[in-house]
Amino acid sequence: MMKPLHPSRLILLAIGLATCLLSACRTEDQLVVSPDGRISAQFYLDSEGTPCISVKTDRKEVLTISNIGFTTADSVNLTSGLHLAEDICRTSFNDTATLLWGENKIVESHYNSLLITLLNNDSIEMLLELRVADDGVAFQFEYTYADSLVLTGESSTYSFAHDGTCWSIPANFESYEFAYREQPLSRTSDANTPFTFHLPACGIYGSIHEADLYDMPEMTLVRDSLDSLTFHTWLSPDNTGSGTVAALEGFPKSTWRTLTLGRKAVDLINSSLILNCNWDWDDIYHTTDYAWSRPLKYIGIWWGMHLGINSWTPDHRHGATTANALRYIDFAAENHIDAVLFEGWNRGWEQWGSTQIFDFIHAAPDFDVERVIAYAHEKGVQIIMHHETGGNIPHYEAAMEQAFQWCQNHGIHYVKTGYAGGFPNHELHHSQYGVKHYQKVVQCAADHQIALDVHEPIKPTGLCRTFPNLMTGEGARGMEWNAWSKGNSPAHTTILPFTRLLAGPMDYTPGIFDITYQHIQNNPDCQKWNQRDARECRVHTTLAKQCALWVVIYSPMVMAADLIENYQTVLPDGTKGIHPMFQFFRDYNPDCDWSRALEGEPGQYVVIARRADNTYYLGAVTNEQPRDIDIPLDFLPNTAAPYTATLYADGENAHYETNPTSYKVYTETVTAGGKLHLHLAPGGGCAVVIRPH
Ligand code: NOJ
Ligand code: CA
Repeated sequence: MMKPLHPSRLILLAIGLATCLLSACRTEDQLVVSPDGRISAQFYLDSEGTPCISVKTDRKEVLTISNIGFTTADSVNLTSGLHLAEDICRTSFNDTATLLWGENKIVESHYNSLLITLLNNDSIEMLLELRVADDGVAFQFEYTYADSLVLTGESSTYSFAHDGTCWSIPANFESYEFAYREQPLSRTSDANTPFTFHLPACGIYGSIHEADLYDMPEMTLVRDSLDSLTFHTWLSPDNTGSGTVAALEGFPKSTWRTLTLGRKAVDLINSSLILNCNWDWDDIYHTTDYAWSRPLKYIGIWWGMHLGINSWTPDHRHGATTANALRYIDFAAENHIDAVLFEGWNRGWEQWGSTQIFDFIHAAPDFDVERVIAYAHEKGVQIIMHHETGGNIPHYEAAMEQAFQWCQNHGIHYVKTGYAGGFPNHELHHSQYGVKHYQKVVQCAADHQIALDVHEPIKPTGLCRTFPNLMTGEGARGMEWNAWSKGNSPAHTTILPFTRLLAGPMDYTPGIFDITYQHIQNNPDCQKWNQRDARECRVHTTLAKQCALWVVIYSPMVMAADLIENYQTVLPDGTKGIHPMFQFFRDYNPDCDWSRALEGEPGQYVVIARRADNTYYLGAVTNEQPRDIDIPLDFLPNTAAPYTATLYADGENAHYETNPTSYKVYTETVTAGGKLHLHLAPGGGCAVVIRPH
């Protein structure tokens, strides 16, 4: 297996020299301004000699990052008493990259930067690179005096210049599956990233996150004290209980710390700052190619287990039987769906929650894996294998090479992994140990031409640019929570695009058409579910919003998550037909070339457009409030002929609580530069396909 290089900033700079303008600067010249002149970042050393960066937009102060640096176990002082060394390098970078897949295949990176060398009296050298682009600020620091460091934490703090509103989940090193909180910064005690905020005083939206995370513990933020607007960095601890968080080797450095900024909330979604702080795949990690790592649509034997009508274990409720698998493959082949996921296909589910010893190459007795694979190949349908690890990392690391090889031998290119369960030896999911594990899996999978959908993952940080087989993942409350809890509020999916989705694709698994689970209520296998309060256990959207989520929640592996029976209807002649709203998924192309968030506010609504070839897809979702929106169609090329828009919309009196399945499908003729009127019901949405005439 080829290991990725992790070059020091100096090597990076050397590479950059080929494409960048480099000039030596005077030491007092430490202001970096974005190419459009709107964002500025001032680097300075405070009176203690600690590195600080003060960020302004349109000359208004946004926040100051102070005390930049690590703290270490051997008490070496890395953050104060620093002074500038002679050489400060100023560079300008302007380039575009073509990604193999993504919301936008063409990604532009245009920024001005400083590379600053700092020294203290013990000759400890810190290199700090600061980039300022039109969509935000990023910095990374590195210590070149040591080839290893044991960290106790990071001293960097983020002080907001004004109070404002923020959207966040709590800082937690085991899970991201929490409901989002909308609250003032001054009332937020801690947060995981992406940590999104709005500061009305300076008319700016922003989001703090990190990029290129492959061997550090994850970063979270904790507010210093009551009444303070300062948050300090809190890294996930290791398992020693001694206060250490990570051991870094080879010129220890931070991840890129990113601050995405925009005048409008949707500017955050349209930014590529995080992706741009990651290497291109062909710079770092060469597999022969990634032609096998393509976007796809999928269905799966999955939702039935969450509802309780099926089981993962091979008992009388077993979902992944040969017969069911063949039925799902047929449905996929008939409905332009590329792949099928089978959860519970393998052995080991009996031990889920105890020893967590799963077998990744032997099938359950009632699942004829060879027959299923052969049938899928015959029908031109891909298989997504499932590797639930239960969190047993040592076991999975010992088994994964053989498991991926087995998939490769069987012509399988997609695996969904899962980590539902604590890691052994008190290791945390988001610790350095966890981060390194997730990275090992990505690289081992790439070596066997396997693309991944990671559940209970480490949060994305743009690494999919370097490893295009890291296609999607969970890392937030997904659809499953609607099956067995009070579920996700109507606002939840209007917050995700402005928070978790800024970091990378999400396998939310939308597309539940049986919103209130009517079809399982008399199912004798589902007694447990029937004992619950059925008014609480349901999906909190309209049906049309489920369709809109296929566009809004970007995932290159996108699932229609419901039982296939709920996508079928009985036609007047008694034969089975397809639910009219499912036509949208049949027509949807997940391999988009271009995307644009058109308008929205976190927690209220969002409208996103994507283009694949010459077809446009639009998704609009709202919270509990109904909305009428006129969308300017200025993104359509100005062709002589008009376009046909097909709307999959909320129907008469649709309401997420009282009338969720009311829908209508209709077409309109639209033109570039014209407007498209959308009506969204309470908790509703709309999905639109726009094609040239
Ligand atoms: C949690 C995952 O999010 C879900 O998709 C999966 O079905 C279960 N774990 C079992 O692996
Ligand atoms: Ca999960």
